Amino acid sequence: MPRETNPAVLVGLETHDDAGAFRLSENTAIVQTVDFFTPIVDDPYAYGQIAVANALSDIYAMGATPVTALNIVGFPSDRLPMAVLSRILLGGFQKAHEAEVVILGGHSVKDPELKYGMAVTGMASPGEIITNAGAQEGDLLVLTKPLGTGILTTALKNGKLPDEWLEPATRTMAELNRTASRLMKRHQAHACTDVTGYGLLGHAYEMASGSGVTLRIDHRKLPVLPGVWEMIERKQLTGGARDNERYVQSHLKMAETVGKPWRELLYDPQTSGGLLIALPPEKVAHFLADFEQETGRKLEPIGEVLPPQEKALEII
Ligand code: CO
Ligand code: CO
Ligand code: CO
Repeated sequence: MPRETNPAVLVGLETHDDAGAFRLSENTAIVQTVDFFTPIVDDPYAYGQIAVANALSDIYAMGATPVTALNIVGFPSDRLPMAVLSRILLGGFQKAHEAEVVILGGHSVKDPELKYGMAVTGMASPGEIITNAGAQEGDLLVLTKPLGTGILTTALKNGKLPDEWLEPATRTMAELNRTASRLMKRHQAHACTDVTGYGLLGHAYEMASGSGVTLRIDHRKLPVLPGVWEMIERKQLTGGARDNERYVQSHLKMAETVGKPWRELLYDPQTSGGLLIALPPEKVAHFLADFEQETGRKLEPIGEVLPPQEKALEII
């Protein structure tokens, strides 16, 4: 696609950022994104919730506030009862409502494969937009949700996932990145992206190359969903992880101590994953304390930002 040259475009396609941003006036920018996918869990209501949490996430990753949304639906009406669509839309509506986002309308088509998601518009002041390209040497990295949703949902599709591990995976995918977004703004984050289809390393690479730095990630610090190791052992692997590996491997220095299951996790494509945030080191303790107080979840830094090295990513 040709490049946009309009000077009001604050964030366009060039840096593979989460959402686009357009300046409306000196104090106001709109931030826009669209996301939809095929069902990731069997329960229609939970699928609706996850699809909306995922669509809103790109707005949160920019430090913007989502305001309005439009539903996007592809539905096999000759194969599934309309009650299924009602449950999906209700799940989506209630997740949007939780986020104080208004659904103004939408569009549906008949589609042999079910799809749901939304186009979302958020607001920000132009100066407060946080891109994936602002990480600075010395920053510490935080990841706000545990990894492993690609492996666990693959196991679910294959009928291999016990309910005890489906529940935490569903809960984490349906969780809004709203609190993390608000707190990263409060603590002056330099850069952020949400971790989705390209996996932790794919999105970390985009942050590193966009910012002109190297990210060093300590694999032992990564948060992991329950059941992930068991499912890797039972070969519930994704094709997406191999694509992600190919995408980043020439930009990557991986310590030999990083075992095979960990590598699987580093490349695992996430659905509605957490925010990867680069914070000034003096702000990190405050961010983590506030995050724990508001969500009940304890995090620790997963890595740091180095001056540019030969490789954009270093995994220790
Ligand atoms: Co994103
Ligand atoms: Co997206
Ligand atoms: Co119309």
